Amino acid sequence: MTPQDVPTDAQDVARDSAALAPWLEGAQALALLQGALAAGIVQAAREPRTPVDLAADARLDVRRVEAICRALEAHGIFVREATTYRLADAWRALASTAALPLLRPRIEAMPAVTRALVAAVASDASYWTTATADRLALAQWVTLDPTSPLTPRLLVDALVAAPEATARLEAGGRWVEFGCGVCGGLLSMLQAYPRATALGLNLDAEVLAIAASRAVRLGVQDRLELRQADAGTLDEEASADVLFWSQFFFPAASRAAVLRAAFRALKPGGLLLATLLSEAPASPAERQAPTGREHAIDHVLYGSWDVPIRSADALRAEVSAAGFTPLRVAHDGFRYLAAQRPVSRP
Ligand SMILES: C[S@@+](CC[C@H](N)C(=O)[O-])C[C@H]1O[C@@H](n2cnc3c(N)ncnc32)[C@H](O)[C@@H]1O
Repeated sequence: MTPQDVPTDAQDVARDSAALAPWLEGAQALALLQGALAAGIVQAAREPRTPVDLAADARLDVRRVEAICRALEAHGIFVREATTYRLADAWRALASTAALPLLRPRIEAMPAVTRALVAAVASDASYWTTATADRLALAQWVTLDPTSPLTPRLLVDALVAAPEATARLEAGGRWVEFGCGVCGGLLSMLQAYPRATALGLNLDAEVLAIAASRAVRLGVQDRLELRQADAGTLDEEASADVLFWSQFFFPAASRAAVLRAAFRALKPGGLLLATLLSEAPASPAERQAPTGREHAIDHVLYGSWDVPIRSADALRAEVSAAGFTPLRVAHDGFRYLAAQRPVSRP
């Protein structure tokens, strides 16, 4: 834009900022949806309901609920039929008791994700300077809610690419997780493999407290030990059958010690499963596709926490240098690298 193109009156501003409008609208629409979920209005509209009924359930003023229903209809979330509103078919997952726990944390964490991104772009903030409540929201944003009946199945599906690990878990093996967070994956695993046991390590006491209360709710607390500790300090020898590493939360400076601890803790022949973010886009068109945009945002966010963004090849090289034998990369949905502690050191 040359200086003479700079908008000079209100009409010009509206024309030249048209690209911004859908983003502002999207942010408002998400806030509307989050509020309607919190009030229970979305879930109640799985059947056609009048605003009067919805207001009574939500204990809100009828006029306010009428306005909310109209706004949800305007965004295509509700369909109006005579005097009633119901959830539109495209949004019916929000009324499913199995799917809602998977979707809701992603919606509810968005304000925290937004704040973390602003901080990542505009300051030298890191994960550890993020407010505790936001760290908790981010920890829930990146994982599955294990209280959904769908998650054990999702976990089993994700582990199809690591049959060496599932054989050990079925036989009552021990899963050690580095950076277990709120234990979305770990608690799903304990439900899917009723003979398995687990140890979860995390630096953050607050996220471990959520994990501990979920374990009790799911009745798996007797098979789980949680420790607030730096994973790099674990000095167990050959005690794990599977070591799950949420590597894209681990800053560069911590990784060598963490990989040494992982190697030590795994039994010879045991499996290292290390999570992967999406690969870098291969073409200019891919850079602006949803996966390319996700990759670029990941770089900004995780990069601001001093975490190196590893491609599958780079992670393979990193774990090989630590003595592991890379086996394969699981690509379907949830991406991770499976590697093995050799039965004997080469
Ligand atoms: C958010 S969790 C990943 C999600 C988790 N796998 C799940 O299923 O819920 C990653 C965690 O790694 C933790 N972390 C980072 N470096 C660590 C270290 N050196 N030792 C232990 N935990 C660490 C962070 O505190 C963060 O909470």
